Amino acid sequence: MTAFPQKPALIVAFATAVLAGAWTSPALAQSAATEGQKLAFDRGKGNCLTCHVIKGGDLPGTIGPALKDIKAKYPDRDTLVAIVTDEPKRNPQTVMPPFGRNRILTEQEINAIVDFLQTL
Ligand code: HEC
Repeated sequence: MTAFPQKPALIVAFATAVLAGAWTSPALAQSAATEGQKLAFDRGKGNCLTCHVIKGGDLPGTIGPALKDIKAKYPDRDTLVAIVTDEPKRNPQTVMPPFGRNRILTEQEINAIVDFLQTL
């Protein structure tokens, strides 16, 4: 019976890891970012490459600024959500479409794209 006393400790360690999200959240964030990249590059969805140079994307346009160092420039996630949802609200002169207001992208799709933007 020497192994038995160690079991509760293992269970506690496991539960702590799960509660802390130590196992699940990096994997989930990773898959959301991958999904966000797909949506951003999809010519029938985000179509962000029409105007932005983005790492890993083909044939980008240069109407907008290159999207890089985004996390440093916009540490606040809500600002990024606001930009993608309705940039004309922030800058009435912009040519960037209001993806959320026009329902080109759902809230969930915008969140995935923002996860992706934060990896740039
Ligand atoms: C029709 C062109 C166009 C498209 C398509 C477009 N954008 Fe933009 N975007 C711009 C322009 C122009 C700016 C510069 C800021 C402004 O005009 O308000 C900008 C600014 C941004 C910024 C701020 C960048 C910075 O360095 O300050 C982000 C983030 C951004 N766009 C993300 C996206 C994402 C994500 C998509 C796709 C879902 C997208 N854009 C699609 C034109 C576009």
